[in-house]
Amino acid sequence: MSEAHASILFVGDVVGSLGRHTLLDLLPVLRERHAPTFVVVNGENAAGGLGITPKIADELFAAGVDAITLGNHAYHRKEVFAYLDAHEAILRPYNYLRSQPGHGVCVVRSSGGVRLGVVNLSGNLFLRAGRPAFTDIDVALGELEGRVDHILVDFHAEATSEKVALGWYLDGRVTAVVGTHTHVPTADARVLPEGTAYISDVGMTGPRGGVIGVRKEQSIRGFVTHMSERYETSDEDPWLMGVLVRCSQPLRADAIEQLLLPAGG
Ligand SMILES: [Fe+2]
Ligand SMILES: [Fe+2]
Repeated sequence: MSEAHASILFVGDVVGSLGRHTLLDLLPVLRERHAPTFVVVNGENAAGGLGITPKIADELFAAGVDAITLGNHAYHRKEVFAYLDAHEAILRPYNYLRSQPGHGVCVVRSSGGVRLGVVNLSGNLFLRAGRPAFTDIDVALGELEGRVDHILVDFHAEATSEKVALGWYLDGRVTAVVGTHTHVPTADARVLPEGTAYISDVGMTGPRGGVIGVRKEQSIRGFVTHMSERYETSDEDPWLMGVLVRCSQPLRADAIEQLLLPAGG
């Protein structure tokens, strides 16, 4: 088997303790079913719905997660700043300011020697990122050139236009471009003509019975009254949402399959 043979399980934004438990319960099932070479998880909402802590990141790595990506909530918990600098395989968006804690690209290696480059990138539309995504991704890919068999880009972005455009921009240059941030999965997973697997949004791993992770009553009240609301994480109807990307040639995908699983399913 060549070193290009691999499969990547990518799991969308893990929301709160319910999302973490859903992931940890279903990961053994998904491993048995799909035997992924790599597991990459977006953890930007893992700590009570906002941010991530060193303890939670350690817990995810201990469960066999190879790399953790983040997004606009990367810095919600101050105690993670030093952890982001110290740990190679946890990423905040690459196109943040260089002065901000952490880094946006890493290489992880499977037991069989396959090398996966992971890039976390933030959109510029409706989200705050200090540098432009579309030029910074070229710099990030330059850093990975010649060092990896596959590349996965987690594009943490709000606007579908920006996400679709990045998919086309990177088609044929990376193995997969997976969108995150909206917490709602899209139905457009496919391999683009030059071989890059693409989906606009993977969705979240958390409570489908809320409003993108928040208790629905609180969210609705906010929209009705226009008054500030205290938001808590919903505990209704947890699901795992992810994608599985299969590959047999360097930097190309053969297939992308959407995984939408109820907790316990
Ligand atoms: Fe999120
Ligand atoms: Fe986000």
